[in-house]
Amino acid sequence: MSSFEAVFGGSPEVVARAPGRVNLLGEHTDYNDGYVLPIAIEQQTSVSMRRNNEGRYVLRSEMLDCTVRFTLDSPPTEHFATYVYGCLVEAHAAGIKTPASDIYVQSDVPIGVGLSSSAALEVATLRAVRSLTGELVDDVLIAQLAQRAEIKHAGVRCGIMDQMASSLAGTQSALLLDTRTLERRLIPLPPGSAVLVLDSGLARTLAGSGYNQRRAECEEAARRLGVISLRDVNDISVADTLPEPLRRRVRHIVSENERVLLAAACSGAEEFGALMNASHASLRDDYEVSVSELDRLVALLQAHSHVYGARLTGAGFGGACVALCEPQALPEISEGVLLDYSRSGFSGRMLVPSSARDRSVRP
Ligand code: GLA
Repeated sequence: MSSFEAVFGGSPEVVARAPGRVNLLGEHTDYNDGYVLPIAIEQQTSVSMRRNNEGRYVLRSEMLDCTVRFTLDSPPTEHFATYVYGCLVEAHAAGIKTPASDIYVQSDVPIGVGLSSSAALEVATLRAVRSLTGELVDDVLIAQLAQRAEIKHAGVRCGIMDQMASSLAGTQSALLLDTRTLERRLIPLPPGSAVLVLDSGLARTLAGSGYNQRRAECEEAARRLGVISLRDVNDISVADTLPEPLRRRVRHIVSENERVLLAAACSGAEEFGALMNASHASLRDDYEVSVSELDRLVALLQAHSHVYGARLTGAGFGGACVALCEPQALPEISEGVLLDYSRSGFSGRMLVPSSARDRSVRP
């Protein structure tokens, strides 16, 4: 196995880590100033750094088996490197000047399935920068710099959920986040429940998908309704004044914000699960970001007697589904559902709990 030592010789000065995330509720609400409820997953990205004398950054990715050299004036062309480059540039602009360094990236966060591998890379990079420079940078600023890096340098007009989750969430409690004010609170999972994430096997590309189009539709709807953002719409019936598909887009955002707040205050796993099921229906019918593979996988999960609720997670158009389940039944649910899914002609896999590190079932 490769390592910083094997590639660069000697030890790194700093090693920083950050997790991926799975969003339990609150999908496509973050760029509408709304509420989200993500939780960190066990899989992490680690970034090791050491100053060099080369006058440029040398970035090595273990997963991609690729080495890239760049300076802040000459952006790399390799897509994965633009995340690291973007973080260094945005940190620099904020007064955190990182010296030329050797950078080594390792990760077991699954890529391209909606578990925020890019946010994990950004936050781990910025944590490494914080340690290397000794600058006082708080976790919220790290998330903000990471989001800027993604928007300006990787070309994805994302909200701030993923970076805030990677920077501030834990694996045992979800992060209830108001994306307008960045006020936040940790919400423990309902007693007697655990998170299961299954990959639909259908790849999605965020920038190439309808993500930016949905975002533009929301902006257009807010403009027509005379509000700063759809967060400011409280009465769902005002959407009826809009043409389709804007009416349904607004209905999703308003109802999804309500579901997040209800889930954060809910009494138990059944109620939480019902809100997840309603979220999927809204994402499928009103927001139209589901596809047949996700609908099938979610339907199989929802029909399982040990599952409280399930939905697509992340931007949609492919990727993963999240379910709230009875903890003891996780292996049985995963195996049974994936078998039935394969009988429908699709091929999925379990992502959380991580099969690589941890197959155990936690209460
Ligand atoms: C992606 C974006 C997030 C958020 C979700 C949808 O993960 O990066 O900011 O918009 O999609 O909820």
